[in-house]
Amino acid sequence: MSVPVVEVDQLVIDYGTRGGVFRAVDDVSFSLNPGERFGLVGESGSGKSTTILALMRMLRGGRVSSGRMRLNGRDLAEVSDAEYRSLRFAEISLVPQGAMSSLNPVLRIGEQMGDIFDDHGVRHTRGQRATIIRELLTQVGLPPEVRHRYPHELSGGMKQRVCIAMGIALRPSLILADEPTSALDVIVQKQVLATLGRVQQDLGAAVILIGHDMALMAHFVTRLGVMYKGKLVETGSVRDIFANPQHDYTRMLINSLPSFDRLKSFRSGAARPVRPAAFQEGV
Ligand SMILES: Nc1ncnc2c1ncn2[C@@H]1O[C@H](COP(=O)(O)OP(=O)(O)OP(=O)(O)O)[C@@H](O)[C@H]1O
Ligand SMILES: [Mg+2]
Repeated sequence: MSVPVVEVDQLVIDYGTRGGVFRAVDDVSFSLNPGERFGLVGESGSGKSTTILALMRMLRGGRVSSGRMRLNGRDLAEVSDAEYRSLRFAEISLVPQGAMSSLNPVLRIGEQMGDIFDDHGVRHTRGQRATIIRELLTQVGLPPEVRHRYPHELSGGMKQRVCIAMGIALRPSLILADEPTSALDVIVQKQVLATLGRVQQDLGAAVILIGHDMALMAHFVTRLGVMYKGKLVETGSVRDIFANPQHDYTRMLINSLPSFDRLKSFRSGAARPVRPAAFQEGV
């Protein structure tokens, strides 16, 4: 049996707020095997981002109160802050929520990508560096010339792809993607996720994908976890969860998807156009 890439065991995370301690993550456990794609869904505020920020040791104002996290068998509590800086990008990388706005507006794309290598002490000649950046951009479906541009010169989808390219630059074994497509239109969403899936397979990396869209998730991941008020209330294969959802919130998520049956009944007049007179009658 191979060692899981990540193991989260009874994780509890608290934020200190003016009103007292707020428990954002409450007894969450899950693990991923190498190359596995795991989806985390759940309503806004259910603790999804908090969970993966804890894995990155990037919580702001929050702390891990109890529980354990292991990355490739290593207890993350025993990793110093300095070592954590070298783990990020190299072993575990995050495409953060609102990633596009995390790009530095005054640096060209190529320079920002180069910084990742510099920060991790990876030395290249100028030519090698340019080649690697060109290859990374090509890998995420962008023209290599994008390296000369500033973020404002790119579309949202292009910026999101740049963030993915940065996330894979050091070939991590775990990629955390926090709603990497939520600001994009549906076509570009699919393309960006397909890109993420392709590079993830090339690397053999595991992925935790956070999202709200069950349909999109079902296409991308093999296993799903559903969070509700800080708890992981349900986990299972996409197939099992769709066939037999256990939790009310999971049922609601699935029922809110448009089905062909529902669309048919909509078109056949189950939802008729409102008669103008109905407005006057206050109906
Ligand atoms: N820095 C903070 N200080 C205090 N409370 C916080 C902080 N960050 C998050 N929270 C609270 O913790 C809870 C979980 O937040 P989190 O960002 O993990 O939710 P989420 O599931 O990612 O939601 P969304 O889908 O909206 O991104 C929320 O109630 C949020 O208000
Ligand atoms: Mg979030």
